[in-house]
Amino acid sequence: MATYTLPDLRYDYGALEPHVSGRIMELHHDKHHAGYVKGANDTLEQLHEARVKGDFTRLAALERSLAFNLSGHVLHSLFWQNLAPHGAEQPNGALAEAIDRDFGSFDTFKRQMIQAASTIMGSGWAALIWEPVGGCLLTTQIYDHQSNLSQAGVPLMVLDAWEHAYYLQYENRKADFFQAAWHVWNWTDVGQRFETARHVSITLSDASR
Ligand SMILES: [Fe+2]
Repeated sequence: MATYTLPDLRYDYGALEPHVSGRIMELHHDKHHAGYVKGANDTLEQLHEARVKGDFTRLAALERSLAFNLSGHVLHSLFWQNLAPHGAEQPNGALAEAIDRDFGSFDTFKRQMIQAASTIMGSGWAALIWEPVGGCLLTTQIYDHQSNLSQAGVPLMVLDAWEHAYYLQYENRKADFFQAAWHVWNWTDVGQRFETARHVSITLSDASR
């Protein structure tokens, strides 16, 4: 039985137009995201078979496959909820205060996020994360779907910088896509994730000042 499932979008494919085309959303969700869900479930099945056979000769490759596909599933599930038609222009409340504290201002945070997305070498994501050891917001570049994220970081908001996220509509103008995303962020969703994440403790209180 499959462990992971493809979540439905909470809005129509075309709901984010003109900023993200309906055709991109359809392909991105139904083909790319679905592929990661299948890849994660298939890898779990292969791990099960390896245990049954007592043959772990392919374990390293299976671990890589699981990290890639499961992380792709998690990030895309998050990305869909991070977006919404007619979103507010900026966050408010505790998230807005934390952004001001940790980045200086919302505009600086926006520039840092776009720069993170724009300078990824190859495929990847820009992410806003809550770092529970230091108790602060950070941005990070995630290579492919799984590399470069600090180990305790909780992703709150992610921006897909893979070509499949924009090429059909924006072609090589990826900076235009990264700007357009700021019309459709769901700050309510990001704010709720921040509220939950900032109460996370991984009980390493002696590892920060
Ligand atoms: Fe994607």
